[in-house]
Amino acid sequence: MSDYECVKLAIDGPVATVQLNRPEKKNAMSPTLHQNMVDALTEVERAGDVKVTVLTGVGDSFCGGMDLEKCFLEPFSNPAEFERVNVTAFTWFKKLKYSPSVTVAKVNGWAFGGGFELVGLCDIAIAAEEAVFGLSEINFGVFPGGGAMWATTHNLNRKQALYYSLTGATFTGREAVALGLVNQAVPAAELDAATQRVVDSLVKKSRLALRANKQAYEKSVGMTFDDSIEFEMAKLAELWYLTENEWVRQGLAQFARREYRPGLEAFQLEGKDGRPTRRGKGALPRARRGSVKLEEKGEA
Ligand code: COA
Repeated sequence: MSDYECVKLAIDGPVATVQLNRPEKKNAMSPTLHQNMVDALTEVERAGDVKVTVLTGVGDSFCGGMDLEKCFLEPFSNPAEFERVNVTAFTWFKKLKYSPSVTVAKVNGWAFGGGFELVGLCDIAIAAEEAVFGLSEINFGVFPGGGAMWATTHNLNRKQALYYSLTGATFTGREAVALGLVNQAVPAAELDAATQRVVDSLVKKSRLALRANKQAYEKSVGMTFDDSIEFEMAKLAELWYLTENEWVRQGLAQFARREYRPGLEAFQLEGKDGRPTRRGKGALPRARRGSVKLEEKGEA
């Protein structure tokens, strides 16, 4: 557990929980909070084996967006300082977007402007039905910037993106599901449990497979079908190499022994990051000969 001035961080094995911690300011992102987030996400990366990073807010707000006074009004007359604050913010926004772990936004309340952006940058989002979202920038005379428009266009369709950015109208967690910005909305009292269910499902998966899955998704969005096939096969080959063929040694071998049904659950991970345990080290050649079922049965 590392507590920064404006951020709480807890790393518990494969799960990191990052809480924006300025509840008295609705978790508006101040320059200090931005720097704390750079440091916290760096700590998560350095931990090395985090599979899931949950981002949420302390108190009744997820994130009230950029601190309008400390990030915009106060440094506006000092261009160098204004730039420094922006660069710090963008540094952690990029870290969040490109996190090697699966990022889950647990939206416990207000999510405005930059707070909306954070939800859009995360891979998965679970919201309280009562949470309120908005692109409020138009209400103070600008438009969603600093990646907020990108997060909007990559989560909402064109009509909805334009409607919400042009009007500043708000919507609830329940409406956010229909808009495609969040995966699920549940009553606030059930938010922790609903998020935990998703986290529990993710941590059963191979860390490197989760990471490769994210990378393949992000790249394939901008590729032709042909290019994507090439990229996906290359990425799979990388994954097989990095995990020493975990999917064959474990995933397929356990299936051959009928130990699980892949349509309904994940195989049992063995060894760190799916790398072979001492006992499993010799499994690959037999699997390659296509006789996993018979030979593995004898070992089980
Ligand atoms: N920047 C700076 N301060 C903010 C803030 C922000 N983005 N969001 C909230 N705060 C501050 C409030 O000014 C208030 O400070 P004070 O106690 O010094 O007066 C404190 O947080 C509590 O907020 P308050 O407005 O009293 O709470 P509320 O429940 O009545 O309303 C909001 C909550 C989120 C609707 C309201 O605070 C708001 O509109 N915030 C701005 C949201 C926004 O436009 N964000 C986009 C920025 S990119």
